[in-house]
Amino acid sequence: MWPAAGGPWPASSSIVGSVTAALLVAAVVVRLFAPRLWSSSWIKQRRGTASSAAGARLPSGSLGWPLLGETPAFILAAYSPRPESFVEKRSVLYGKVFKSHLWGSPAVVSADPEVSRAVLQADASAFVPWYPRSLMELMGESSILVLGGGLQRRVHGLAGAFFKSPHLKARLTADMRRRVARAMDAWRRRLGSSSSSNPVRVQDEAKSQCHVLQIVFEILVRALIGLDEGQEMQYLRQQFREFIAGLISLPVKLPGTQLYRSLKAKKRMTKLIQKIIQDKRNRRVTEGEDARGTHPSDMIDVLLGNGSDEFTDELISDNMIDFMIPAEDSVPVLITLAVKYLSECPLALQQVEEENMELKRRKSDVGKTLEWTDYMSLTFTQHVITETLRMGNIINGIMRKAVRDVEVRGHLIPKGWRVLVYFRGVHLDAAVHDDPHAFNPWRWKERADVVGGGGGGGFTPFGGGQRLCPGLDLARLEASIFLHHLVTNFRWVVAEEDAVVNFPTVRLRRRMPIEVTPRE
Ligand code: HEM
Repeated sequence: MWPAAGGPWPASSSIVGSVTAALLVAAVVVRLFAPRLWSSSWIKQRRGTASSAAGARLPSGSLGWPLLGETPAFILAAYSPRPESFVEKRSVLYGKVFKSHLWGSPAVVSADPEVSRAVLQADASAFVPWYPRSLMELMGESSILVLGGGLQRRVHGLAGAFFKSPHLKARLTADMRRRVARAMDAWRRRLGSSSSSNPVRVQDEAKSQCHVLQIVFEILVRALIGLDEGQEMQYLRQQFREFIAGLISLPVKLPGTQLYRSLKAKKRMTKLIQKIIQDKRNRRVTEGEDARGTHPSDMIDVLLGNGSDEFTDELISDNMIDFMIPAEDSVPVLITLAVKYLSECPLALQQVEEENMELKRRKSDVGKTLEWTDYMSLTFTQHVITETLRMGNIINGIMRKAVRDVEVRGHLIPKGWRVLVYFRGVHLDAAVHDDPHAFNPWRWKERADVVGGGGGGGFTPFGGGQRLCPGLDLARLEASIFLHHLVTNFRWVVAEEDAVVNFPTVRLRRRMPIEVTPRE
């Protein structure tokens, strides 16, 4: 859910262009006039001659320009229709694990499933997460994304168990079903009252402006902090939008900069969330056991119920804000990409329609509404979501920093270096997935066990190891509910061709406009 393989670059391509040009000039000056800046160990690493006592060798590759390294080449590829070309070109020259220099630091890049898997499985004694400075600044020190060791494991374990719990899934499904139905009724009314064609833009609908994005966000916020629809929710949403605008911005926090505005917005959100935490703590004291109920109703209850002193108000509120990021972005993008790929593959769309219509008929014949287990039992729809995750690469990869010299399957990753585990390179590698650029949900027929990846290094849209995404079931469930209601209520045609933009985050250039017609 995090723009991990992005960097401290602002979203606008023109700003990226000028920053890159300025840094290029700086690099040339440094190269001409300060050759002695590079230490002998740096030169050794540059030449790829460093090796560990056990014989692991630094992968070969190029560190590119001093200061700039290979970041401009990475960014140029990231803006192109084939972002993986950066890795593909170097894999041909050096192999699927190679050295480079990205985001201001020497780095080892892995597009090798087994090496990637080993890095994901490693614990904080070997690697810690690494994020661009603006992101670190905004997330705060007690964020689960930055925490290491026992505290991260505890927050992760509690969150994973809560988001997997059948009780939460049942409540969330009922919420989402009700609200998606309401949004789709609004589409019908809009279509009925408009004579001209008025395309629905899935990325807006799946995101917030007025419909489904708002639904995805509000449903998750309710699960996290127990806030219902209303004015406070609106306020939180507004602040949150300001907050995430700074996640990929220049790391300068002077008044007037985006980072400054985002930090202010975070403060306002923190105040609201800490008030909710305080109210909950007070209720626990005054009402004792009665305040707890049989099931925790939100994530704050889960953390408070754990009774650990480490879960301070600050830690809880920081983490609640971090958990909101995927709701705002990753899940709506997953939904939008699924609609795009289905629009381009009529056979798959037809099979999804048949499967979902059949379920709808079966349930309505006996007068029942759909449970979360019904949505998740739609085998082909699940294959479509799996294939969308593979092709779409909503998270291109993740970055770690080596806290000591680490050896991974014969490769040396020196202390202080970054590792880019490049999921996209593996997901689109013909040696791992046949005909990787073709949308082929049927490929998962024989691999029905694959849900989130995490087990093998060949499919890791949700990461793996100790940091495997705790929201993966939820992401799939929300996408399934949306697709079910879309295909059983409407038919659609693409209103305007659209293209996927991959940098700094994955999205659709035109927000995926489709023209919908209600089914009889
Ligand atoms: C399509 C949707 C999603 C995708 C592709 C996705 C992907 C990922 C990935 C790749 C990671 C691993 C990061 C790392 O190793 O450093 C991750 C971690 C995480 N995800 Fe998601 N995610 C999605 C949805 C969600 C949702 C809905 C939630 C919230 C309920 C969520 C909460 C988290 C959290 C809290 C972490 C950090 C875990 C830790 O560091 O211990 N994600 N996600």
